[in-house]
Amino acid sequence: METEIVRITDVKAQAGDIARAGKLLRGGGLVAFPTETVYGLGANGFDAAACARIYAAKGRPSDNPLILHVCDRAMVDEVAAEVTPMAERLLAAFCPGPLTLIMRRREVVPDRITGGLATVGVRMPESVVARALIRAAGVPVAAPSANVSGRPSPTTAASVYRDMQGRIPLILDGGPCRFGVESTIVDCTGPVAVILRPGAITREMLTEVLGGVKLDPALVGAKVVPRAPGMKYKHYAPNAPLTLLEGDPTKMVPAFRRQVRQLQAAGHRVGVLASHEVVMALQDLVPSPLLADYGAQGDLLTIASRLYEQLIAFNDTDADVLLGEGMADTGLGLAIMNRLHKASGFHSLQI
Ligand code: TXA
Ligand code: MG
Repeated sequence: METEIVRITDVKAQAGDIARAGKLLRGGGLVAFPTETVYGLGANGFDAAACARIYAAKGRPSDNPLILHVCDRAMVDEVAAEVTPMAERLLAAFCPGPLTLIMRRREVVPDRITGGLATVGVRMPESVVARALIRAAGVPVAAPSANVSGRPSPTTAASVYRDMQGRIPLILDGGPCRFGVESTIVDCTGPVAVILRPGAITREMLTEVLGGVKLDPALVGAKVVPRAPGMKYKHYAPNAPLTLLEGDPTKMVPAFRRQVRQLQAAGHRVGVLASHEVVMALQDLVPSPLLADYGAQGDLLTIASRLYEQLIAFNDTDADVLLGEGMADTGLGLAIMNRLHKASGFHSLQI
């Protein structure tokens, strides 16, 4: 199958392209599309056979449910059996935006999507291209991230192409994704909201709107099965093993220099994923193709938006070990550290 990439810069002027993509989706085909978080691999959310094609294209475990993307508030009611007052407040405060709500599902939602759960994840993306596509399809769009299962999520159309080339007919290219980490998932089915996956709608933002919010114990290192099935799989890992250095940001430079020297003395080609501050201080030790600058310390929006592309890029280098710089898990830092911990297989050194 030929995979076509269509660049979308203006949804109004390119209404014809959007309509064609919507028709393809509605008819059971797969279309990759941009969102503000990562690229999605979409299928008609009411069509179990189309959704099965997503699992095949990604090599995704079949017990891992898909989330449904909607274009407006009315479409939420097509898939959720009940929108609780808590969910209503979150919809009003953050949607459209990088948030997925877990709600009780309607019968029309195929079991193929929910993995047999009584709930469904619903997300209203902020991306204008994503919402125009869903509107054109006229149905909720089931979409996981558009990567082969286990790899980092794509935040550019080129990365989608690398994973999905020959497997899907169409990629809509909306440019790089703004946030770069997947949506925050909040379970709204109980008395207190629970964050199942941290993202750009932060714990602090949710607390402000709801008063209280819990973190799924699986996120804070407890040895329990996460309630978002996808969170239990190995994920985001580059080919070379990654170790994180965690601790006081002002001590990062000496800690990195020490670790890099030790590893190089043992014959390793060391790749470094770190802040601008650390990268600048390693230029005499590490050749530039092996140095990835993820942004200034504390510039969490930049770090999140670069993270996956930089992890993917190490696979094109000869690095055989990677060192990454950790940060505080406040605000968007919680989402970044969650992804870094998974990418490293929870391999960290406290400095
Ligand atoms: O930002 C995003 O959410 C992106 C873009 C494309 O919208 N999508 C995304 O989908 O990250 P995916 O499939 O890669 O991750 C969805 C996560 C998985 O970990 C899945 O297990 C969990 O959501 N999930 C889906 N339905 C669920 C449910 N009913 N209960 C608990 N977790 C659920
Ligand atoms: Mg994913």
